Amino acid sequence: MLSRISIPVVRAAMEKPLSSNAFLQFVPKDMSARRRIEFMAGRICAARSLREMGVGAEFPLPVKDRLPVWPSDVLGSISHCATMAVAMTARKTRYCALGIDVEPLIAPNVALEIQQCICCNEELIGMEKHMPCQVRSLTLLFSAKEALYKALFPLVGQFKDFHAAELCEFDVGSVVLRLTHDWNACWRVGTKIRVRYAWLGLVVVSVVCIPANLWRK
Ligand SMILES: CC(C)(COP(=O)(O)OP(=O)(O)OC[C@H]1O[C@@H](n2cnc3c(N)ncnc32)[C@H](O)[C@@H]1OP(=O)(O)O)[C@@H](O)C(=O)NCCC(=O)NCCS
Repeated sequence: MLSRISIPVVRAAMEKPLSSNAFLQFVPKDMSARRRIEFMAGRICAARSLREMGVGAEFPLPVKDRLPVWPSDVLGSISHCATMAVAMTARKTRYCALGIDVEPLIAPNVALEIQQCICCNEELIGMEKHMPCQVRSLTLLFSAKEALYKALFPLVGQFKDFHAAELCEFDVGSVVLRLTHDWNACWRVGTKIRVRYAWLGLVVVSVVCIPANLWRK
């Protein structure tokens, strides 16, 4: 189940006076104003997705090691940027890993600075046929790799940099990433994972959903 909300809508709701503001009681006190709004927007999306699945959960979800704690039979992933938040949830009986990422188009000067950290030249060249704009390609690769990381991190429990996976196929609507080394004993070098994506204006949304039957213990 996928849910999306616009950040300005959440900001307007959170700027209501304290007495009539249903949200403020739930927001952690130690967050900046911007972080609070994005955090709450992500949690609203998560709550909506769970409700649509018919799953009851505490609002906002508890946090452990910076990750939301989902109801026991559910997987989920949250992402937010300055303009929107998204969340995705599914039953563990159907999927073993979910990851979602939203990423605004990277500014050209920033793209130049971070390109080498995100990918090799060959990966960008591989995308040129379908996406001639390198900044778009880089934004998509960045987002796809973050979605992959968010899907696998709960299973692997280790930080992985952006060269831990590389582009091996690129199509309109999806890319395939290949692990460049073993992420753990289950997620081995060479494993290919499809990442679906869609551009919503200048923001790309990337999604990884790995079916439960691919789960290797
Ligand atoms: C963890 C990370 C992917 C989050 O991405 P981001 O663009 O900064 O933030 P997003 O808005 O997309 O996601 C944040 C949400 O993801 C969740 N999250 C945080 N850390 C996470 C992790 N390690 N794994 C999965 N989900 C995570 C949380 O729900 C968080 O939102 P909340 O704190 O408001 O609940 C990023 O900070 C990071 O560390 N990236 C480097 C590692 C990487 O991507 N490697 C690529 C390997 S190929």
